[in-house]
Parts: sequence; structure tokens; C-alpha cells
Amino acid sequence: MKTLIKNGTVVNATGTAQADVLIDGETIAAVLAPGSTLLGFDLESNVDTVIDAAGKYVIPGGIDAHTHMEMPFGGTFASDTFKTGTRAAAWGGTTTIVDFVVQYAGENVLDQFALWHEKARGNCAIDYGFHQILSDVQDSSLVAMDELLREGVSSFKLFMAYKGVFLSDDGQIFKAMQKAASNGSMIMMHAENGSVIDVIVQQLVAEGKTDPYFHGISRPWQAEEEATHRAIMLANLTGAPLYVVHVSAKQAVEQIAQARDLGQNVFGETCPQYLYLSLEEQLGATGEQWGSFEGAKWVCSTPLRSRAEGHQSHMWQSLRTNDLQMVSTDHCPFCMKDQKDLGIGDFSKIPNGIGSVEHRVDLMYQGVVAGEITLPRWVELISTTPARMFGLYGKKGVIQPGADGDVVVYDPNGHTSIGVGEGRTHHMNMDYSAWEGFEIDGHVDTVISRGTVVVDDFAYVGTAGHGQYVKRGLSQYLI
Ligand code: URP
Ligand code: ZN
Ligand code: ZN
Repeated sequence: MKTLIKNGTVVNATGTAQADVLIDGETIAAVLAPGSTLLGFDLESNVDTVIDAAGKYVIPGGIDAHTHMEMPFGGTFASDTFKTGTRAAAWGGTTTIVDFVVQYAGENVLDQFALWHEKARGNCAIDYGFHQILSDVQDSSLVAMDELLREGVSSFKLFMAYKGVFLSDDGQIFKAMQKAASNGSMIMMHAENGSVIDVIVQQLVAEGKTDPYFHGISRPWQAEEEATHRAIMLANLTGAPLYVVHVSAKQAVEQIAQARDLGQNVFGETCPQYLYLSLEEQLGATGEQWGSFEGAKWVCSTPLRSRAEGHQSHMWQSLRTNDLQMVSTDHCPFCMKDQKDLGIGDFSKIPNGIGSVEHRVDLMYQGVVAGEITLPRWVELISTTPARMFGLYGKKGVIQPGADGDVVVYDPNGHTSIGVGEGRTHHMNMDYSAWEGFEIDGHVDTVISRGTVVVDDFAYVGTAGHGQYVKRGLSQYLI
């Protein structure tokens, strides 16, 4: 199967160029001056499919390096399976996800890794890799970190919050970091001071402050800043590279920026919800949801932050200045019915998470439209840096010969209305959209995964099982 994408503007992290892209089988074979022949052969009459991308952008497929498909969490399971979640991702221009294998205390890491393979195998519309969550960091977990590296898992997430669920104490974190420093893998950190948060939660609930709004109040930016600082110091002590996930507080960004300025291998990710949404508007401090359960839709951790305190604008700025390097979704969807509902009368029982895997490419493109980021930076944030950060670059994250044929044709003159309503876009397995009413001045037209068209002109035309497991190498940001 040969596909020619002609007349488009190819956007890589390095810049833009008018070029035709030839995909042969699963691989990009050539990026050519528009209308070129190849060794005297006219391309159009020698390929199976021609896609005219005139007036459109041709970008490497999105890589969402932070998803939780069917994750057991908060007394329930994240509502997207690998099947529904990767299909929704494809619809939105994402051609690779990196999902988290979960290990709870007492569980065996390698058994969990095998279990996640079973969940994903044969079900994915797009390619997928795994990070591994470690909770209690047993001796066997440290041995497993070496084994997993050979299996293409080069990053390990630890939690400084969620006592009795995920939390690793500082000694456990220290040991995992020592291992990462020795085998070259990346430590990913959920940086919030869980012990302090647990006390605040108890006090708020005891005072009858049980609405979703108080989820935000229970997880103050100081708890994020402190944990981020502590994680950086532990990484400094051990020499481990550190990637701080779902950064939402501007003070946490400052910690990351300072460490980077001092030459430490520290990286930071934010998510669309921390760029666009806020404590006031979604959780209800000043909005209509105050006193209602509506805000449960946006209960996630780290929490949405106060717009009055300026966190959102600081996140955009940090993406421009490279104090933050990537945007992932932290896709962890739950329905309102029977899932978020578990927290009626007690916000601390609301399953934490927001579903966005379908919308990240669009939401970040809207940042281009709004003048927050440039076109190449858009591609860098959603595809190229995730590929480099997590050992996929070359194969993924770039339009160049030899790379996988993971390509999105994006129409800057198209339009996308996000939400569950009529004429709106919503394919995730959730009974609401956290992004209802968002309007995007652009549209994902065609999505190609390893040379196969999986989304074409508003229709999903892929198959579950097309997506393959990708073994990842070490981060390409580390020397
Ligand atoms: O609220 C969130 N972020 N849920 C998913 C789990 C995590 O901490 O990433
Ligand atoms: Zn987390
Ligand atoms: Zn997460």
C-alpha cells in the first residue's frame, strides 16, 4: 500500500515546509518538493491512494504519553477500555499512547505488566507503549525495573500522594531513583504532599465541606510545590532523571525551572485542563455549580487551580519558554453515573480524573490560533518531545523518511465543536464531556497509523488490533 499526501504544509518541530509525503507500507519513504517525481516515476500514478492536503497541515501523529485506560482507581475503573480509548484518541489525531501499568502494594510488578498486555493486545486502534507505576517498591520491583527496561518500559511513575493506594514513602522513592540512575530509566512523579492533603481532607469533611469545590481546596499549590521540590532534591541526590507529571501550580513550575537552570535533568508536563480550566469556573467557587455536584466532572489531581492566582497563563508561558516541555492528557475518564456519583456527600470519594485523549491535538492547536504557541511548537509539544522524552523518536514524532507512517492531515480552515451534543465530537466512553462547548478553529481530517488510514473525513475506518505494542528506548534527552 502506497499513499501520497500532496500539496500540504509539513509541520515538524523544526519548522514548516511545502512538501509531499510518500508513505510506502508502514513507513514514510520520502518527503519531497511538491510535485516531484522519484527516479523519473510520476508518483501520483504509482501509488494506491492520493490525499490532497492543499491548504492543510501535515503533522506527525500525536503522542499522548499519559493515559489510564481501564485503570482500577477510586473504587471503580476508568471508563475507557483500550478499545474505546484508543479509537477516541485516533479520532482526535493521536496515533500513539503511553499508558500506565498499575502496581498496587503487594502486587507483583511483572505480573501486572503481563496483565496490561492482556488488556491491550488485539484491542488498540493505534500503537501503544507502557510506563510502569510502582507503589510499595519491593526488592523484586527494583529487579523488575531492569527486566522491564528490556521489555521497552523505560519510565516508572511514583506517587507522593494517595496513602494506602499508591503512595511511596521517601525511602522507597529514593531506592527507585537509585535504580533509575543506574539503569538510565526515567522517574515520573505525581508530586503532591499526600500526608498533608489527607489531613486537610479529613478536616474539611468534618466541617461539612463536602462539595466537589473542596477537592480543589484540599490540594493547595503549596502541597504541589513542596512535593515537587522534594522530588527534585531526591533526584539530585541520586542522579536520577525526573519527569514531573500533570503540573498545575505556577510555583511547581518555578521549582522545575530552577532545577533545569542548575543543569539537573528535570522535565515537566502539563495537561489541557491546567491551561484552559479553573477552580473558579469548573469547581464552582464563583460559578453556578457552587453547592451542586456538577463540579465532580472536573475533579482530578493535581486539581484545577485558581485563575485569579494566574496559574493557567503561567502554564502557557512556561510552554513557550520551555520551562515545561510537554502536554499530555492524563486521560482518566469516569462517567458521572455510578462513578463520579460515588462522591456525592464526600468529595474525597469522587474518582479522580478527566477524559481528554480525543481533544488534546485540537485543544493545543487552539493555542496556536490564540497566539499562545507557534505552529512548530504545537507539534513539538504534542508529538516530537513526547517521542524524544520516552524513547520513541525517529520512529515516531517526526515526518521524515524512515519514520512510521503516523501522519495527521489537519485543516486550519475546518472547525470542531467539542461535546456530547448534536453535531459535536465526543467518542470517549463517558456520559459527559469535560470540554462541552469548546470550539476549535481547526479540524483533524485524516489520521494515518503506520500507513493505514484510521480516520477519514469524520469517520473512524480503523480496526481494533491494528495498534501494536511499541518497545521504547531510553529518553533521548539524557546524555
Ligand atoms: O486525577 C488524576 N490525575 N487521575 C489519574 C491518576 C493520576 O494521578 O495520574
Ligand atoms: Zn498522578
Ligand atoms: Zn495520570
